[in-house]
Amino acid sequence: MKAMRLRHPASPDNLKLEDMADAPAPGPGEIKVRIRASSLNYHDFLVVMGSLPTPDGRIPMSDGAGEVVAVGAGVTEFKVGDRVVSVFFPAWLDGKPSAAGFASVPGDGADGFAAEEVTAPVTSFTHVPAGYDHAEAATLTCAGLTAWRALMVEGQLQPGQTVLVQGTGGVSVFALQFAKACGATVIATSSSDAKLAKMTALGADHVINYKATPDWAKAVLALTGGRGVDHIVEIGGAGTLPQSITAVAVGGHISLIGVLAGFSGEVPTMMLMAKQVRLIGITVGTRRQQQDMIRAIEANGIKPVIDRTFAMAELGEAFKYQASAAHFGKICVSL
Ligand SMILES: NC(=O)c1ccc[n+]([C@@H]2O[C@H](COP(=O)([O-])OP(=O)(O)OC[C@H]3O[C@@H](n4cnc5c(N)ncnc54)[C@H](OP(=O)(O)O)[C@@H]3O)[C@@H](O)[C@H]2O)c1
Repeated sequence: MKAMRLRHPASPDNLKLEDMADAPAPGPGEIKVRIRASSLNYHDFLVVMGSLPTPDGRIPMSDGAGEVVAVGAGVTEFKVGDRVVSVFFPAWLDGKPSAAGFASVPGDGADGFAAEEVTAPVTSFTHVPAGYDHAEAATLTCAGLTAWRALMVEGQLQPGQTVLVQGTGGVSVFALQFAKACGATVIATSSSDAKLAKMTALGADHVINYKATPDWAKAVLALTGGRGVDHIVEIGGAGTLPQSITAVAVGGHISLIGVLAGFSGEVPTMMLMAKQVRLIGITVGTRRQQQDMIRAIEANGIKPVIDRTFAMAELGEAFKYQASAAHFGKICVSL
């Protein structure tokens, strides 16, 4: 089989398409999957740039979707021909986060899905939503589940509440879609008016250009009658958190997800406390949450927004495209 491997020194230009031994026949409790698609996340970008160091030859990509080509002894959850999508944490199936961290995360602590075949325990995959093609399915592992967990699990979002989503990348577009499906009011921010028009077309109720309006929290307060929003999907991190703490309602919730605006910085702790805000850091979610999300996607007919799909041989170009931030929603790769 062919696989894309990240050679040292890590960079998009050092992604090499190489011949490898076929994935082994599945043992008891395992399935073998012909991977057909993956999708790019900022986490994969950090790996490919060498910011998250991995061994020479690591196969990148946390997200993988394809069809089952063989099942091992005792497997009842999947049969040959089933469409499946990978889970981000193969060792975190349910319950509270474990201390294992990223040791078994595909494309980081372990080899990922830029490979034509993968053999793994059944718990490394779930079924895909009915009607999804492989590229659509591949968007769910990281971006989809992170947005789902932020709003539906940690936020316990209720119809009629107000949600703020930042930027128009993979996580934020999913967050908009889940929030609208739940009957929430959504405020979206972006650096681009053209992208904001796309967010409006997808259902955003209000939009703010965060470049033109750097003090966007004030605009959020104005839009909410001074009250603020109930939930924020915080993808900027250090550079945006102070604005988010201003923009959130008393008793509101912020899921801290991203690092796009810096890794550390000043936090207005007094305001955080006085407003009794629930601030939680999250990393993706569990296999059980992925199955819950997929049921909700099917019930609501949600389809991911895919900006562009590259061939696997062009994976380096796909990462350069991601770095340009020209995309809206997800960037996918077909294998
Ligand atoms: N904790 C987790 O479990 C988890 C999971 C997935 C992703 N993440 C993190 O979440 C972030 C987004 O991931 P992604 O995969 O959705 O990335 P992505 O698709 O590459 O999204 C990038 C977009 O973020 C927006 N952005 C950049 N700086 C911003 C800022 N200062 N304020 C508001 N928006 C800004 C831009 O949108 P515009 O072009 O519209 O301005 C940009 O196009 C990354 O930091 C990633 O590491 C974390």
